[in-house]
Amino acid sequence: MADPGILAVIGAQWGDEGKGKIVDLLAARVDGVARFSGGHNAGHTVRIGELKYALHLIPSGIIHPGARCFLGPGLVIDPGALLREMEGLQEQGIEFGSRMVISSRAALILPTHQGLDHAREAARGKSKIGTTGRGIGPAYEDVASRRGLRAWMLTRPESLQEEAEKLMRAHNEELARLYGADPFVIDEAVGRLLRAAEKLGPFVHEVGSEIRGLLNSGGKLLLEGAQGVLLDPIWGTYPFVTSSSCLPAAGAATLGIPGHRIGPVLGVMKAYTTRVGAGPFPTEDFGPEGEELAKRGAEFGTTTGRPRRCGWFDAVAARHAVEVAGIDAIALTKIDVLDSFDEIRIAVDYEDERGRRIGSLPADTAMLEHLKPCYETMPGWKNPTESLRDPADLDPAARAYISRLEELLGVPVALLSTGPRRAETMVLGQSAVAARLRELLDQGPDQVY
Ligand code: GDP
Ligand code: IMO
Ligand code: MG
Repeated sequence: MADPGILAVIGAQWGDEGKGKIVDLLAARVDGVARFSGGHNAGHTVRIGELKYALHLIPSGIIHPGARCFLGPGLVIDPGALLREMEGLQEQGIEFGSRMVISSRAALILPTHQGLDHAREAARGKSKIGTTGRGIGPAYEDVASRRGLRAWMLTRPESLQEEAEKLMRAHNEELARLYGADPFVIDEAVGRLLRAAEKLGPFVHEVGSEIRGLLNSGGKLLLEGAQGVLLDPIWGTYPFVTSSSCLPAAGAATLGIPGHRIGPVLGVMKAYTTRVGAGPFPTEDFGPEGEELAKRGAEFGTTTGRPRRCGWFDAVAARHAVEVAGIDAIALTKIDVLDSFDEIRIAVDYEDERGRRIGSLPADTAMLEHLKPCYETMPGWKNPTESLRDPADLDPAARAYISRLEELLGVPVALLSTGPRRAETMVLGQSAVAARLRELLDQGPDQVY
């Protein structure tokens, strides 16, 4: 049985769908929020009034004083980056106490992982992935090749020093031999690591048993996905993907929760599409409409500041995400960005050079590069959706757009986001997920949040 205490919130496009906003919104009445994949390649933004919090490793529940925040075993953690993030949040008045828990099984990112990430990207030349350069891929490689460092070492300086020196020497050799790159000064890097370990050590614990205990005693847990299904290494646009699973099942697998207990899955999608980094993007719009989406949506990466590529909603890719990730309902974000358009397009299929309809997202990424989207056009709405909180205020054309997406995706839109702040949100419809969301928001069926 799915656990009534769990709700998984995952990205269902190419990342940056607004997961941070949605997780923060839903975290007021939960006992814990767990990040289960990725590292500081993620950038999750929470806006509260004029304040802006950029979360990279720390779950977006941290703003709520009651939520315990778990950095799960599936994460790759750069200790320096985590410390900087903690210090930044503390400067913004966030109290951690002992609310943050780093899994003793999480993997550590070393500076040489970042060096390898950069060197590999440079060596790929034109076929660059456009990674965030945070060392994510090389760190996961070391997990798979069973030579990586784990967070428990932050509590044991001798092991940390010995293992870090050994691994960095191996990385330095690889950097020099394969890429002709300068070696890292190991003593300095290890010195920094040991100083970071002193501060982070007290936060390191076994996460799995605590999470199971929390659930067994009736607690509520949010799973916070990073990246998005189209960046998943198996189901995304490989090789232009990240290196850890973006699917909710990875939450169960890594957090030590039985797979069958994973609760409803809320897939976060923008009302249009964006992507950072390289790789196929069938609906990418290089013309004025793409520019308008970028401008109105302020589409610059939270982590790297790179401009995001923009285009219309791709219902083929989104439907693929719904199916492979088992998404039960959608949180549709940034609908307000579409307020200015007279007409709005949705890609409902792809076709190849010979005009043949494809119907799904192919495994062959090179083929995807050559497919053209088939668009359906819908009228825009003249009554803005920006900041709306009551479904009754939605223009019929905006409702029709949402209904069409629901039809194409086969699941309901249960949450609609009309701006970056908490209150700029409404729960839609009477689906089971909508009921769960109302419960988390402490809201009656007809009440407006
Ligand atoms: P994440 O990585 O999925 O958490 O998304 P990011 O935080 O990287 O990017 C989403 C951006 O959109 C952030 O700047 C949010 O503040 C902003 N945002 C979220 N929801 C909305 C919305 O409904 N409307 C608008 N205009 N902005 C939003
Ligand atoms: P959030 O959680 C958008 C992209 C990178 C690159 C590819 C591989 O904020 O949605 P990596 O550094 O992971 O090896 O880069 O994945 N990417 C993201 N794009 N949002 C993210 O996270 C991303 N994390 C990685 O741009 O294309
Ligand atoms: Mg982001």
